[in-house]
Amino acid sequence: MKLPIALVGDESVVPCVDGVSRRYVGLDAGASTAALPSVVNRVMEFLPSYSSVHRGAGYKSQFATSRYEDAREAALAFAGRDGRNERDDVAIICRNTTEAINHLVYRLNLHESDVIVATVIEHHANLLPWSRVATCRYVECGVDGTFTLDDVTDALDALPRPRLLTISGASNITGWMPPIDEIIHAAHARGIQVMVDGAQLAAHRPLPSNADFVVWSGHKMYAPFGAGVLVGPRSAFTHGDPFLAGGGAVDLVDLNEVVWTMPPDREEAGSPNVVGAVALHAAITELTNVGWPAIIDHDRHLARALRGGLSAIDGVRVLGPELSCDTLPIATFTLEGVPFALVAARLSAEFAIGVRHGCFCAHPYLTRLLGLDHDEVARFQMDVRHGDRQSMPGAVRASCGINTTDDDIQQLLDAVEIIASGSAPPCTYHQDPTGDYFPEWTDGWPVDVRSRGGSCAPG
Ligand code: ALA
Repeated sequence: MKLPIALVGDESVVPCVDGVSRRYVGLDAGASTAALPSVVNRVMEFLPSYSSVHRGAGYKSQFATSRYEDAREAALAFAGRDGRNERDDVAIICRNTTEAINHLVYRLNLHESDVIVATVIEHHANLLPWSRVATCRYVECGVDGTFTLDDVTDALDALPRPRLLTISGASNITGWMPPIDEIIHAAHARGIQVMVDGAQLAAHRPLPSNADFVVWSGHKMYAPFGAGVLVGPRSAFTHGDPFLAGGGAVDLVDLNEVVWTMPPDREEAGSPNVVGAVALHAAITELTNVGWPAIIDHDRHLARALRGGLSAIDGVRVLGPELSCDTLPIATFTLEGVPFALVAARLSAEFAIGVRHGCFCAHPYLTRLLGLDHDEVARFQMDVRHGDRQSMPGAVRASCGINTTDDDIQQLLDAVEIIASGSAPPCTYHQDPTGDYFPEWTDGWPVDVRSRGGSCAPG
């Protein structure tokens, strides 16, 4: 199948400051992808049969239950658990990667004395759930935002012995992919389990089938209907309290007794998101049909064009590993002399280009990539603690998906080139207390977007 594949909404036009409406160039796949048409079609086909899952004798309930369980099987196969190996894994359908990691952390029943090895390249979803209950030991990165297998094994070999390694399959800031198979192998050789955060990886590369646990989100793989997945050994979920308590997770309840049922149902209290599961299944089917070789070729082509093109613009600094490194099609950059939030605001308001900016929910990694020293970090952290977010450091990120075209990238490069050339913006921009910039103009824009934080999330 030929890439790119258009996504729902790719033809949308949006208003710009000069009064012209332009085709929206969405370069924020790292945060959220639009839906594949096949996903929406499958959801529309399914909706007339929508009914309760695991809760009804009616035909539609039986049908919806069957579609839900099909999605679970597809998720297991997508994570490389296709029944051909000895493993007995379950796929737990949840909201997203963040929920999946919180779920796993709860189920591991960690204590402060438990050591978890994490890395400084993680996004907050793969830092905070662990660090609030256990002791984290971090693998540091170099100035290029990477680390080596040896760096990881040093952390695995240090004492006290870690209980688990948690690591991203790909960074959401640089698109760098740690040597995950070798890392998992090294952890297993030491008897240490591994959780791979597949949030960025899932739409771009096969998920590592040898990871003990793997998590990912539908909304970053063309199925934005609120489903994500936690895959892990059934045995990890057969004892103890589930993350959520409620209907569907039990065999028996009395006012002073509960007998939890077996996983995966034990882990999915409440009515499951069958529409999200159907959507996720459809996305898995389409990505499988397209095939990894075509997806990887497209990604590599985009990564070269994006990272190479941005690096060639005067004043642009692309963060992360050198250009020859095989990364996902993501480029995070700064532009000398122009605040990162202003670059993002101008790309949006003048060129109809949607990117993300700020710290990308990965403060520790971004401060390292920017090369901030201890005093600089201490200064902005102090400001933020006192409620002033204008001095938060940041960068601009462009990230691509299955729908990204050469033309999309060229439009970004042309726009960044214009901004870098110092050409004056056609209107005034004002910075708000959060640090974001907005044009002095609201025609055609949701007027309340400023007060609702539509631009840069706190992180
Ligand atoms: N969803 C976050 C991102 O945009 C982490 O990268």
